[in-house]
Amino acid sequence: MSSEHVVTHYSRGDILARIAAALRDDGADPEHPTIETLAPYDQFHGRGIEATAEAAGLMPARPGDHVLDIGSGIGGPARYVARRFGCRVTGIDLTPEFCSVATELTRRVGLGERVDFECGNALAMPFADARFDGAYSMNVSMNIADKRAFYREIRRVLKPGAWLVLSEVAKGGGGELAYPAPWATSAQTSFLVTPEETREGLLDAGFEVVELASSLEQALDFGMRSRAAVARGEKPPHRAVMLMQGEAAKAAMANTARGLAQGAIVPIEVMARKVVAV
Ligand SMILES: C[S@@+](CC[C@H](N)C(=O)[O-])C[C@H]1O[C@@H](n2cnc3c(N)ncnc32)[C@H](O)[C@@H]1O
Repeated sequence: MSSEHVVTHYSRGDILARIAAALRDDGADPEHPTIETLAPYDQFHGRGIEATAEAAGLMPARPGDHVLDIGSGIGGPARYVARRFGCRVTGIDLTPEFCSVATELTRRVGLGERVDFECGNALAMPFADARFDGAYSMNVSMNIADKRAFYREIRRVLKPGAWLVLSEVAKGGGGELAYPAPWATSAQTSFLVTPEETREGLLDAGFEVVELASSLEQALDFGMRSRAAVARGEKPPHRAVMLMQGEAAKAAMANTARGLAQGAIVPIEVMARKVVAV
């Protein structure tokens, strides 16, 4: 997916205003949001903050570490990780609107001293070699055709032995996903690979894969709980895709739910380490 396609796909121009309206509707103060009040809106990946908390459970981050969030969106995962571990987080994202919304929400939450965002391409990051203690990326590689270049560039900016956690949508064995999906309007701009191809790409790029597991069960369970909440007349727990994509989100979310149920896609969580060259 070219840089222009990614930016066009994700930009809206009014995301901050839409978040403010949604928070007001929830009875929260848009000028003084918290990680909790933002959580239904600022985690732009399957299962929202539940998935972020699980991915963070794989991160051996320590207070004072400097952690990189690749494809940081509007910054929900970065704020969560910074607060949970007391670490510093730098996010990088291609979409300028996401970077400015991420910066503003982080200031409002009071984490501006420890969380910052750069607008840039994950395939050519403006960071020195061996700068970060760890890195993670949530639901980004589906937009990136050249996975090996992606993993190699991440490896470059990590310290020797540093960790990498990925939370991704992978290609399953159960037929083809229908589009639009939340990350792409058509198959031409979606780059899904299987869990095994993910493992091979990481090994080729110089990572050791410590853990690679499917979170399909959790995704199906989350889908059931969301539908039950809607049936009770409540808001679904995860509203980020609706917030970002409006009416178009309905088809994208229905296709994702069908894709998960049929096995066309499978969510995976990966923990890897940068191998120190011998
Ligand atoms: C589905 S969103 C996930 C955002 C965030 N990780 C989260 O979970 O809330 C995918 C993000 O990847 C970003 N992205 C896609 N390709 C990228 C690239 N080559 N470099 C940097 N960011 C990219 C998009 O701008 C978008 O913010």
